[in-house]
Amino acid sequence: MPRTPACPPAPAAVLCGLGGWLPPRVVTNEELARRLDTTDAWIRTRTGIGSRHVIEPGQATSDLAVQAGRRALLSAGDGAVDAVIVATTTPDRSCPATAPVVAAGLGLTGAAAFDVGAVCTGFVYGLASAVGLIAAGVARRVLLIGADAYSTIVDPEDRANAIIFGDGAGAVVLRAGEADEPGAVGHFDLGSDGTREDLIMVAAGGSRQRPSPGEDGRRDRHFSMRGKEVYRHAVTRMAASARSMLGDAGWKIDDVDRFVPHQANLRIIHSVAEELQLPLDRCVSNVGTVGNTGAASIPLALADAASRDTLRPGARVLLTAFGGGLTWGSALLTWPELPVPTYRPHEEKNPA
Ligand code: COA
Repeated sequence: MPRTPACPPAPAAVLCGLGGWLPPRVVTNEELARRLDTTDAWIRTRTGIGSRHVIEPGQATSDLAVQAGRRALLSAGDGAVDAVIVATTTPDRSCPATAPVVAAGLGLTGAAAFDVGAVCTGFVYGLASAVGLIAAGVARRVLLIGADAYSTIVDPEDRANAIIFGDGAGAVVLRAGEADEPGAVGHFDLGSDGTREDLIMVAAGGSRQRPSPGEDGRRDRHFSMRGKEVYRHAVTRMAASARSMLGDAGWKIDDVDRFVPHQANLRIIHSVAEELQLPLDRCVSNVGTVGNTGAASIPLALADAASRDTLRPGARVLLTAFGGGLTWGSALLTWPELPVPTYRPHEEKNPA
């Protein structure tokens, strides 16, 4: 019998660029406490957040995404990609998607470009989409950007949410490579529970709840969150997702050198680490100075850790996220050699 030649393995997606961007304006807890009934102590104790960055009036999510994307492409050393994915909950418009505008802003007109909507899990879902495009041979290089401007949807008078969220963007470049290379993104665990869509939502503005004539519907267009319930779901879902994926990959918790969770708040991060029995010194967190930046939070935390030298080549990294939907997801990779990313305005060496 003639033997069928074995199919070559599908290419793996290898991380080869990282960058981010935080808008220059910083809002401290003290500034919030001057206009809201809250205190720096309350915010720090409940969330671990001390300040966050926000965009200026007139700016939009795509402006953040272009800045972050440019830095990731510079870090990758090659500006060409076949696809641009933007994970966001705050697109510039409900139609069209934000990714084509971002691609055009980066001089990448012609590349495939689409948005991923999975709220704060968007970056991990986007990573799985990028890995899929590369494995299927549809793209050789993909730019994935997590970008959110929550200041555009959170009611500034809503003290429960205004204290938590910040604006920013983080980006990675993935190229086709081998599964055993450092930087190859490995196993995934993704999930959702739409029966709890009520816990995190912007009620109006979509096809379910249209604006009525004569009504500006502003209240319903603001972000709402049932904080206490979200807290409980975030801890149990993130821990379960991480455990399930580590099991599939054959990793033990001791194999994880760096845990990079969605930066929801410090108490959630510490509770998940406790659930997983992961020492706190392996948890990466920058939530204290950026707040919850939604889909940008994991790539910004990666950029922060890499720039502080707490994320070194060879480190085995676990990414885990949770967000509205509800959605959750985890991914694994071994950290590759990358140029040190800059992502804070005062650290800028290559002004765009
Ligand atoms: N300052 C002072 N008081 C505040 C406040 C603020 N900024 N925001 C809310 N409160 C008040 C509430 O009105 C409530 O008052 P009441 O008891 O009189 O009704 C009280 O504080 C709630 O306190 P408590 O229940 O002890 O708060 P908490 O420990 O649950 O913390 C959150 C509230 C929102 C910080 C917390 O639930 C949380 O972190 N949830 C998850 C949010 C998150 O990270 N989501 C992102 C997931 S992707």
